[in-house]
Amino acid sequence: MLDQLEQVEKTALDLIRASADPAELRELEIRFLGKKGEVTRILRSLGSMSAEQRPLVGQRVNQLRGAISSAIRERIDHLEAERMRRLCSDPHFDATLPVAPLHVGALHPITLVTDHIESVFRAMGFLLLDYPEAESEFYNFEALNIPAAHPARDMQDTFWLEEGVVLRTHTSSGQVRAMQEYPPPFRAIFPGKVFRYERTDASHEHTFHQVEGLMIDRGVSVANLIHSMRTLLGAIFERDVEIRLRPGYFPFVEPGFELDIQCQVCGGSGCPVCKYSSWVELLPCGLVHPNVLRFGGLDPEQWSGWAFGLGLSRLVMMKYRVDDIRQLLSGDLRFIRQFAQG
Ligand code: FA5
Repeated sequence: MLDQLEQVEKTALDLIRASADPAELRELEIRFLGKKGEVTRILRSLGSMSAEQRPLVGQRVNQLRGAISSAIRERIDHLEAERMRRLCSDPHFDATLPVAPLHVGALHPITLVTDHIESVFRAMGFLLLDYPEAESEFYNFEALNIPAAHPARDMQDTFWLEEGVVLRTHTSSGQVRAMQEYPPPFRAIFPGKVFRYERTDASHEHTFHQVEGLMIDRGVSVANLIHSMRTLLGAIFERDVEIRLRPGYFPFVEPGFELDIQCQVCGGSGCPVCKYSSWVELLPCGLVHPNVLRFGGLDPEQWSGWAFGLGLSRLVMMKYRVDDIRQLLSGDLRFIRQFAQG
């Protein structure tokens, strides 16, 4: 058997060295190393060999495979170098001619805006955190002051994975995790994908992106929260956009607010995105509820906090005037290529 392997090696290496064509080299690779190749066939016959012969032959076959594939690689490199040398010595070759335009990829608009938000908040001393998409019922609901029978569970239709585990319905699921992980005071954002079992339309997706903001400190105020949100929107839009603040109910904040933005798709004249209301819900927020602080191991007599849950997908729609949220995750390259920079 070892003699046979010797013979196969000699034949293979001679053929490789004599070959002047990359396509032929690929065929040789199949002939010797492919699924039905000569070396593979020998490898398969190992099972029928004696216990003493098997390791010897096995080792030799592996060595042979290595020798053949590196000989093929070296030969292909050599042929390519030769080809380039010939090309460059051609008197008609002009290295100064412009090349055909390369197909440049583009960052997804959600990535562009997330990066921007991260840099704005990092500059204000915020940590950047990341929490699981498959989340326990505890962190997604209970720790946020939404016990099992609470009607607020219906506010967010849920994908259940298995007993006690959900696809997180909001990035707020990271709030208590962050409080348990970092000693106060701290401030953090956690962007990510969230999931809801709901009917889609121009402004609703079942899978969309949010960015949670959380600040824990002593004597945190609503004024401070509003200042941070204004800073965020100013940095993203780089122009004045109309916003309105109204009371909002979320069991995990008290008081709670809804921050809406004037619809940038229609300029406020009414369209399917804003459901002809001129306004789009973008940035709910509020002061962290004492019960949530307690779940995070913090004494509400000493510590306070604010939180917001930015509808990132909607922010992207408003910034780039995207008139249907379903385009964002459609995978349609014609849509994404519009955001190529430079
Ligand atoms: C929440 O998810 C809360 N966790 C937000 C929060 C955080 C409140 C912290 C207070 C403190 P809501 O369900 O309203 O709230 O969603 C937040 C934002 O996500 C909405 O304003 C909207 O911009 C966006 N959003 C909600 N549902 C969808 C959907 N189906 N498709 C796209 N964006 C959505």
